[in-house]
Amino acid sequence: MIVADGLIGLIGKTPLVRVSCFDTAGSELWLKLESHNPGGSIKDRIGLSMIGAAEADGRLKPGGHIIEATAGNTGLGLALVSALRGYKLTLVVPDKMSQEKVTHLKALGAEVIWTRSDVGKGHPAYYQDMAQRIASETGAFYVNQFENPANPAAHERTTAPEIWEQTAHKLDAVVCGVGSGGTITGMSRFFPPSVDIVLADPKGSVLAGYVETGVVGEAGSWLVEGIGEDFVPPICDLSRVKHAYTIDDAEAFATVRTLLAKEGILAGTSSGVLIAAAVKYCRERTAPGRVVTFVCDSGAKYLSKAYRDEWLADQGLIPRQQFGDLRDVVARRAGQLVEVSPEDALRVAYARMRLHDVSQMPVLDRGALVGIIDESDLLVAALAGDFGKPVRDVMSTKLETLAPSASVAELVAVLDRGLVGVVMDKGALFGIVTRIDLVNYLRRRIA
Ligand SMILES: Cc1ncc(COP(=O)(O)O)c(C=O)c1O
Repeated sequence: MIVADGLIGLIGKTPLVRVSCFDTAGSELWLKLESHNPGGSIKDRIGLSMIGAAEADGRLKPGGHIIEATAGNTGLGLALVSALRGYKLTLVVPDKMSQEKVTHLKALGAEVIWTRSDVGKGHPAYYQDMAQRIASETGAFYVNQFENPANPAAHERTTAPEIWEQTAHKLDAVVCGVGSGGTITGMSRFFPPSVDIVLADPKGSVLAGYVETGVVGEAGSWLVEGIGEDFVPPICDLSRVKHAYTIDDAEAFATVRTLLAKEGILAGTSSGVLIAAAVKYCRERTAPGRVVTFVCDSGAKYLSKAYRDEWLADQGLIPRQQFGDLRDVVARRAGQLVEVSPEDALRVAYARMRLHDVSQMPVLDRGALVGIIDESDLLVAALAGDFGKPVRDVMSTKLETLAPSASVAELVAVLDRGLVGVVMDKGALFGIVTRIDLVNYLRRRIA
């Protein structure tokens, strides 16, 4: 049983678990559960080691100010150690990061500055450039995990030796993703040449291509969080990597969902890239071996995304029947709709809209569409102080129905009149379309 004097003593020493739900062609696949760290991710280790190194060499004084550019998890590791050791922490976060992570950071006492995620290195709004500028203006200690030697050192000194001990020195490969490159570099330095170092990279990142061709190509975009880069970070040593796998978002999300359904492990989205790459590597081996990869953080932070069918469908990541007409724009098809009945009280409509985070709902009477209720109807009821009335009394019955063959321009005209698009197919409700559904559809088409 582990006993610690304070939470910092619980960083590291994470469990290793074997999983068998994937076809690994006879190889053993083991997962190092970094999600068990007290801050919820592998980055607790580097939060502790980078702050410890700055304390040791005097860059950080008691009560000092720390600043970092972070995709989230490093911020949590730093925020945890900063809170426990009394430092002020400012984090610059790109705006594609999940709201859950940012809420966690703020609740730990960190100051969060959002910046754009659509700009690259060298742009003043790029999160690392911005953090560096604020540090030089304020004199704060800029952690810079991308260049900080205490980052790979944490993995060389703790993560890798733990794996070595847990596998009783019988290990054939470690599969790593790269965010800053700390993990892969630490593994490369610690393990003997007999252990393959394998790169798992999200599709759109430049790193797998760099390993294969030596050239840094053009970066695309990806939805998994925490790994993948548009440059090769200075501390990232890829010289030992002989095998690199590119995994797309759809495969990554499907993999973490299988992991939860079959093994009960709730993993973050990047784990889908790592595990899918590990499985491919296992199948390509000439002989079965023992392979370790990571669950770098918990899926709890991504429940509203990767683990929700509606979100995946909005992103175009789960296959849906395509019709080549207006029906393809419908995000919630009949049967998946959040709905209310005309006899329900307004408080039921209110609770349902809040729970599902929608701003309008169709009103269905035994399957037939009889109206739409939206936020403005609820506002009228709230002003009158009457949430007990039936939905029927306030719902809008002015419905604009559209046939599947209607054009996007006709839909836009309906939306422009402040109405919701109601798509009817052969007299039956097919689904409703809101502005954001149309935006999502058009964005998918551009992508
Ligand atoms: C969520 C997450 N963060 C961070 C990392 C590793 O990042 P780094 O290269 O900075 O050590 C991984 C690696 O798989 C990851 O999945």
